[in-house]
Amino acid sequence: MFLSVQVIELLLSVVLVVLVVVNGGGDQLEIGFYNESCPSAEETVQWVVARAYKSNPIIAPALIRLHFHDCFVRGCDGSVLLDSIPGNASEKESEINKSLQGFNIIDEAKAMIEAQCPHIVSCADILAFAARDSSTLSGKIDYQVPAGRRDGTISLASEVEANLPSPLFNATQLIANFESKNLTAQEMVTLAGAHSIGVAHCNSFINRLYNFSEISDEDPSLNPIYALMLKMKCPSNVTSTDPTIVPLDSLTPEILDNKYYVGLKLHLGLLTSDEALLTNKTLEDMVNIFANDPKVWAWAFPQAIVKMGGIEVLTGTEGEIRINCSVVNGGSFAFSDQ
Ligand code: HEM
Ligand SMILES: *[C@@H]1O[C@H](CO)[C@@H](O)[C@H](O)[C@H]1NC(C)=O
Ligand SMILES: *[C@@H]1O[C@H](CO)[C@@H](O)[C@H](O)[C@H]1NC(C)=O
Ligand SMILES: *[C@@H]1O[C@H](CO)[C@@H](O)[C@H](O)[C@H]1NC(C)=O
Ligand SMILES: *[C@@H]1O[C@H](CO)[C@@H](O)[C@H](O)[C@H]1NC(C)=O
Ligand SMILES: *[C@@H]1O[C@H](CO)[C@@H](O)[C@H](O)[C@H]1NC(C)=O
Ligand SMILES: *[C@@H]1O[C@H](CO)[C@@H](O)[C@H](O)[C@H]1NC(C)=O
Ligand SMILES: *[C@@H]1O[C@H](CO)[C@@H](O)[C@H](O)[C@H]1NC(C)=O
Repeated sequence: MFLSVQVIELLLSVVLVVLVVVNGGGDQLEIGFYNESCPSAEETVQWVVARAYKSNPIIAPALIRLHFHDCFVRGCDGSVLLDSIPGNASEKESEINKSLQGFNIIDEAKAMIEAQCPHIVSCADILAFAARDSSTLSGKIDYQVPAGRRDGTISLASEVEANLPSPLFNATQLIANFESKNLTAQEMVTLAGAHSIGVAHCNSFINRLYNFSEISDEDPSLNPIYALMLKMKCPSNVTSTDPTIVPLDSLTPEILDNKYYVGLKLHLGLLTSDEALLTNKTLEDMVNIFANDPKVWAWAFPQAIVKMGGIEVLTGTEGEIRINCSVVNGGSFAFSDQ
C-alpha cells in the first residue's frame, strides 16, 4: 500500500519532468534533428559503439560517464572532449578526470560521420547518442535523444571541481550539486543508477577503509564482509594512481539495471556518495522504489538522462560544429571569460 503511493508520486513527478522537457526545458533540442541533414548520423554512432562494446564492454560505462562529465561542466557542449593547449589545461586534466575513457570511440564516430556529412553533427550530440547506445547495449535501455547541441570552444580544468559532485559528498551536498544543474533529488537518485556499471579506483573510496573515525577504522555503514574484501584489494599504502579497480555494483557489474539499488540496501554501495542515498528520507524512498522494481528504474532513467542532456546546451548559431572533437575549429582554444 505504502509503496504503491510512492510509485504514484514517482509517476507524477516524472510526468511533470516530461512536460518540462517538451515545453522547452530541453532548450530547443529535437528528436530526429539530423533526419534530413545527416540521416545516417545516429546509426553510425550506434555501429561504432556496438563494435567497440563487443571487444570491450567497459566502453559502455566510460561513455555514459563522459556524457555526465560533459553536461555538468559548461553544459553538454563537448567541452570534456577537448585536449589541453599549452598554458591552459582542459577539463580532461582535472584530478577528477583520471579514469575518463572512450575519447577514441567518439573520435572514430566523428571521423566516419564527417566523411558522410561534413560539418553537420556536433561532438556533443555524438556523445549524447553514444551514451544512449551504451545504455541499450549494457541494459537494454533504449530511448530517443533530442539533439541539435552545438560544440563549445572553452574547456578549463579549473572549472571541473566546482561543478562535478565529489565521491565524498553527503546527501545535502549531492542534492545541492544536482539542484545547481536544475536536476531534482529524485533525478539525482535515478541518475546515480548509472553506477550499476563501471568501476572505481581505490582512491575514490579509500576514505571509507582506514582511519575513518576516532572510534572505527572503517566506515561502519559498509557491509563488514565487503569492507574486508575492499581492504584486501586496496591496502592502506595503495598510491592514489594505483590501477586497481573495483566494480561500483558488485551484484551485476556489467549490466545496467536496478541491482545497484539492491546493493545499496545491502550496504554494498562503494562510494561515500552512493551510501549517502540512504541517509535522507526522500532519497531513501526512491532507492526502495527502484530496488523493488527493475521496470520503474528502467523507465525513469531515460527521462532523467534526457533532462541531463539538456543542461545549458548551445543551440542555433551558438558555439560551432567542431570538425575534430578534441580541438576547436581553427586549431586552438578560443579562450574568453564567456
Ligand atoms: C551522484 C554523484 C556522483 C558522484 C559523486 C560520482 C562519482 C564517481 C566516481 C568517483 C567514479 C569512479 C571514478 C574512479 O575512481 O575511476 C564514478 C564512476 C562512474 N560514474 Fe559517477 N558519480 C556520480 C554520478 C554519476 C552520474 C549522474 C552518472 C551518469 C549518468 C555517472 C556515471 C558513472 C559511471 C558509468 C562510472 C564508471 C566509469 C567507468 O567504469 O569507466 N555517475 N563516479
Ligand atoms: C525525424 O523522424 C522521426 C521519425 O520519422 C520523427 O519522429 C521526428 O519527429 C523527425 N524529427 C524531425 C526534427 O524532423
Ligand atoms: C588560458 O585561459 C585563461 C582564461 O581562461 C586566459 O586568460 C589565458 O589567456 C589562456 N592562456 C592561453 C595560453 O591560451
Ligand atoms: C588527468 O589529469 C592528470 C593530472 O591530474 C593528468 O596527468 C592525466 O594525463 C589526465 N588524463 C587525461 C586522460 O587527460
Ligand atoms: C554535509 O557536508 C557539509 C559540508 O561538509 C556539512 O556542512 C553538512 O553538515 C553535512 N550534512 C550532513 C547532513 O551531514
Ligand atoms: C536552471 O534554471 C534557471 C531558471 O530557468 C536558469 O536560469 C538556469 O540557467 C538553469 N541552470 C542550468 C544549469 O541549467
Ligand atoms: C592513520 O592515522 C594514523 C595516526 O593519525 C597515522 O599514523 C596512519 O598513517 C594513518 N593511516 C592511514 C592509512 O592513513
Ligand atoms: C604496501 O605494503 C606491503 C607490506 O605491508 C608491501 O608488500 C606492498 O608492496 C606495499 N605496496 C605499495 C604500493 O607500496
